[in-house]
Amino acid sequence: MVYELSNPVTKTLIMHLRDQSSDALRFRHTVGELTKQLMYEALKEPVFTQKSITTWRAKESYNVIDEDNIVVATVLRAGMPMLDSAVDLLPGVSAGFLAMKRDETTHKSVLYYDRLPDCKGKTVILVDPMVATGGSMMDALELIKGREPLKIITLNIIGSPEGLEKVSKAYPEVDIYIAQIDERLNSDKFIIPGLGDAGDRSYNTLKQ
Ligand code: PRP
Repeated sequence: MVYELSNPVTKTLIMHLRDQSSDALRFRHTVGELTKQLMYEALKEPVFTQKSITTWRAKESYNVIDEDNIVVATVLRAGMPMLDSAVDLLPGVSAGFLAMKRDETTHKSVLYYDRLPDCKGKTVILVDPMVATGGSMMDALELIKGREPLKIITLNIIGSPEGLEKVSKAYPEVDIYIAQIDERLNSDKFIIPGLGDAGDRSYNTLKQ
């Protein structure tokens, strides 16, 4: 199932990402803020646990998110600001890293780095800012599924209807939380209107 955020604050932040005058610092910061909004939405029905703490009055127990059983995984490199934001928000979760590169000619993605922690029985939150063709996300989901998680959630900033449909048809059990669904893909498989390449925008590597 695909859930798109509708909050006006979300849409205002998306505008700042589209704005080419937003520099890399603002871009990463905005991606981080959007990631937190996606986390609030996606973790409304999480696996809870009782946590016992010492308060100013006594030892007390609270019903909270079971951070020990959450893995946040990202696809380098554009996913890094999302991962940083997610682990800042919930520092008890563990982090995993995948690296895939989209081949600009074949439009297929190739996996070249895999440092996922143990995912068995855990909730895995896959963060990647862009769903264009959906190829990278499907490759990452296939890999994560093989690690026997309890549940997989994805957090994405922007996506094409084509890519999202492809992913949700192939993985109906995965919940996809996204800040903005755009109009379409163009013939070069870029999201329209989109925001450019999130990795390049985040790390100042725009082609001149
Ligand atoms: C971007 C993005 C996704 C992928 C989406 O990464 O972060 O992983 O493209 O495209 P797809 O849906 O068509 O697979 P990119 O390959 O540009 O690498 P980068 O993160 O290093 O910039």
